[in-house]
Amino acid sequence: MADFQNCGSCSSSLLELFERVSAQGEKVRSLKAVKASTDEIDAAVKLLLSLKVTYKTATGQDYKAGSPPVDFSPVSSNGPAATQDEDFVDPWTVQTSNAKGVDYDKLIDRFGSSKIDKELINRIERVTGQTPHRFLRRGIFFSHRDMNQILDAYENKKPFYLYTGRGPSSEAMHVGHLIPFIFTKWLQEVFNVPLVIQLTDDEKYLWKDLTIQKASEYAIENAKDIIACGFDINKTFIFSDLDYLGMSPGFYKNVVKVQKHVTFNQVKGIFGFTDSDCIGKISFPAIQAAPSFSASFPQIFKDKKDIQCLIPCAIDQDPYFRMTRDVAPRIGYLKPALLHSVFFPALQGAQTKMSASDPNSSIFLTDTPKQIKTKINKHAFSGGKDTIEEHRKHGGNCEVDVSYMYLTFFLEDDDKLEQMKQAYTSGALLTGELKKVLIETLQPLIAAHQQRRKQVTDEMVKQFMTPRKLAFDF
Ligand code: TYM
Repeated sequence: MADFQNCGSCSSSLLELFERVSAQGEKVRSLKAVKASTDEIDAAVKLLLSLKVTYKTATGQDYKAGSPPVDFSPVSSNGPAATQDEDFVDPWTVQTSNAKGVDYDKLIDRFGSSKIDKELINRIERVTGQTPHRFLRRGIFFSHRDMNQILDAYENKKPFYLYTGRGPSSEAMHVGHLIPFIFTKWLQEVFNVPLVIQLTDDEKYLWKDLTIQKASEYAIENAKDIIACGFDINKTFIFSDLDYLGMSPGFYKNVVKVQKHVTFNQVKGIFGFTDSDCIGKISFPAIQAAPSFSASFPQIFKDKKDIQCLIPCAIDQDPYFRMTRDVAPRIGYLKPALLHSVFFPALQGAQTKMSASDPNSSIFLTDTPKQIKTKINKHAFSGGKDTIEEHRKHGGNCEVDVSYMYLTFFLEDDDKLEQMKQAYTSGALLTGELKKVLIETLQPLIAAHQQRRKQVTDEMVKQFMTPRKLAFDF
């Protein structure tokens, strides 16, 4: 019940509740069929009745087998608890009034996901035999859905695959966009699984002032940056929607299946669409949902429809996958599992995420060492005090200091990071010195990325983007 209770009247969770009642009804029937003990049947019937009461309270309707709830009021994707002064997070906007950034614990409650706790991190370490990535150790990937299922599958030698993506809205990606890709690469290495990467050039054509031609070009440019992250060409398929949809009946059939099972009312509730949004936007979520199902990639998975999917992304993308998880069992598929990251903040502070549409908020993968230095020195919000004397006396505040936050993403050495924190908080380390450490960390990292990108040839891009069997037998 966790998803439903946490999310309250969230439209997508009502569908999950509907599924639970249906599944419990099935369970009662099968227990009766196998003549299970009276105690077992009674317990199952009791749970069924209580689920039906919960369902009625939530929807105002009696549960009716085969008729999912459709006629309820849309609610914000941010859940019923979101009020004027609370954080706002959806695929297009991230906004909070708190200088420390979004309250991610509250977001877990509102979205109905689960926290990545120490126990889960330890399990990942045990199962993979690898030191958990710094993004896990530091709570940067902080929330999940069904990660334990993935680990169960892995332990039982059952295959799964990774799916992530990028909406190519500009030629240059920023450092924030790297976060899910860096982590996905680590996941691919430690679990040795296939990976599909969706480039939603169709989405960007629909949402932005872009021609189809430009969106396709950006997709190719972004693919080069993604390839430069170091993905294994034998295990990775990158595709542009504008390209792949037209040549993959398996994919398109899944898009249509999703479209048939989600109403306009539901997407209005989840994504905030209005009557004047074009129909392309309204039907787009089905296109982002489809790669969550292995049947969308017959060239990789043959006719296997039950290979589970794990999606690493920042939590802004979760609305798409709440919808996907609601639909999945109704079209005969497994729900995708998810790993959610926090946002890499804007230079100006953690009230919003780094955004490609505001150049001063971001460090781009195309920035020169000089640009990186100037942007950090000029724009990175400081948690330090106004004068050196005050700073030495009272110390700085790492919780709001953007340079420190950036170091938590990119400085690998845990001990050094802790030393910086202590020194900055005590006043021993000044803002300028902290910024210098960040500049010296980011400059080589971005220069190395640019070097790797230069090595990416058109032929390599073509290979990554050709539908083909990967180095796995299904
Ligand atoms: P897009 O292009 O907005 O973002 C690409 C990926 O980067 C994440 N992201 C960030 N992560 C940390 N800090 C930030 N400041 C930041 N900004 C963006 C996003 O969560 C995303 O994971 N519609 C999607 C493309 C897409 C996709 C997917 C993403 C299609 N299928 C499956 C993830 C998983 C988009 O426009 O992403």
